[in-house]
Amino acid sequence: MAEKQFNTVGPSKPELHYLLDPLARVDLQEIEALIEAQRYFVLHAPRQTGKTTVLLALMEHLNAHGRYRALYANIETAQAARGNVERGITAACSAIARSAQVYLGDTRLDDWLLRGEGRAVEAEEKLSRLLAHWSQLDPARPAVLLLDEVDALVGDTLISLLRQIRAGYAQRPQAFPQTVVLCGVRDVRDYRIHSGGGDIITGGSAFNIKAESLRLGNFSREETVALWRQHTEATGQVFDEAIWPELSQDTQGQPWLVNALGHECTWKDKALRLNRAQPVTLAHYWAARERLIQSRATHLDQLTDKLREPRVHRVIAPLLAGGQALWDPLSSIDDVEYVEDTGLVALRPQMRAANRIYARLIEQVLGRDVQAPSPTA
Ligand SMILES: Nc1ncnc2c1ncn2[C@@H]1O[C@H](COP(=O)(O)OP(=O)(O)OP(=O)(O)O)[C@@H](O)[C@H]1O
Ligand SMILES: [Mg+2]
Repeated sequence: MAEKQFNTVGPSKPELHYLLDPLARVDLQEIEALIEAQRYFVLHAPRQTGKTTVLLALMEHLNAHGRYRALYANIETAQAARGNVERGITAACSAIARSAQVYLGDTRLDDWLLRGEGRAVEAEEKLSRLLAHWSQLDPARPAVLLLDEVDALVGDTLISLLRQIRAGYAQRPQAFPQTVVLCGVRDVRDYRIHSGGGDIITGGSAFNIKAESLRLGNFSREETVALWRQHTEATGQVFDEAIWPELSQDTQGQPWLVNALGHECTWKDKALRLNRAQPVTLAHYWAARERLIQSRATHLDQLTDKLREPRVHRVIAPLLAGGQALWDPLSSIDDVEYVEDTGLVALRPQMRAANRIYARLIEQVLGRDVQAPSPTA
C-alpha cells in the first residue's frame, strides 16, 4: 500500500491521509442527542478547518449504525444562480438527489425530480417537497440531511432555501428530515441576506428553528503534534522536538496549515522523501515554511486574492498601521464579517493575524508588518 500523505486538497480520507479522528473534533454525544431530539442545528468554522471531513464522517457513522438514513450534500453549485430562485433551488435539489445516488445508491430522488411529480413543482416549493418525498420513502429510518456550503448561496435563493426547510419542519420526522444540519463558514444567525426587493433579511428570522450552533475549532497543540507523529509511526522518519513550538506558533493549529507544512517537510523535500532514515531538523522545517509561503499553494493563493480586495484591505488597515483599533468604523459590518470568515485575522479581543503564517502572507501581499499572535501557552 502506498504511503499516506498530509492532505492539502479537499476533505481528508483515512485510507489516503494522516488524519485525526474527525468525530473526536466535535462533541459527538451532543450531536447524537440533538438528532435524537429532532433538532435542526448549524456547524460552522472558517475556511479549511475540516467541516466537510466531519460531515462525511458523521454520515458514515450514522449510516453504519442503521438507525437513520444520513445524507451529505454540497449545494455550492447553487451559488452561480445568485438571486435567481428558479435556478438556485433547482441546482440545490439536483445536488441533493445526486448525493443520494452517490452515497446511498438511491436513485429515487432523481426519479422524482426529473421524471416524476417534482417536474411540475414550482421552485418555491421544490426543495421542501423533495425532502418530504425522501423522508417518506422509509419511515422506519428517519432522514438526516447534512447540508454543506449553505452560505455559498446568496439573496433570494438563500432566503427560499431557509424558508422551505422551515416550512417542512413541523412534519418531521415522518414527512420531513428528523434533523437538518446547516454547514458553512458562518452561523445562520449572522447571515444578512440582501433580497431582490431591497430588504435585508437576517438568517435568524428566515430560519428561527435553529436549536444550536456548533463551531469547529483549530487543532490543539497536542493534536497538531499527534498528526505529525502519524508520519513517524508510518515511515520511521523522526522530527526534531524543537519543531513543535514553532509549528504551533506558525499555525495556531489551523488544520490546513498544519498539513501543508507537514507535506512540505515530508514530501516536497525530495531528499527527506527518498530517505526516511534521515530525521527532519528545525532547519528543514524553516526551509519548508519559507517554500510554503512563497509557493502560495491553493488555500494561501485564495487568501492572497482576498487580501487584494479593497474591502478586505480597508478592514485590516488599522492592523497594518500597527494600531490597536478594532476596525475602521467606515468599514461595513458585512465587510468585517467577510474578513472574519476568511479566518485571516482574529478580531477579538483585538484585531491580529490569526497565526504567524497568515501574518507573513499579509506582510508580503500588503507590504507592511502586522502583529502576529503571541506564543501559545
Ligand atoms: N480530521 C482531520 N485530520 C487532519 N487534517 C484535517 C482533518 N480535517 C481537515 N483536515 C485538513 O483541513 C483541510 C480542509 O478540510 P475540509 O475540506 O474538510 O475543510 P472545510 O472546513 O470543509 O474547508 P472549506 O471551508 O474550504 O470547505 C484538509 O485538506 C486537511 O488539510
Ligand atoms: Mg468544505
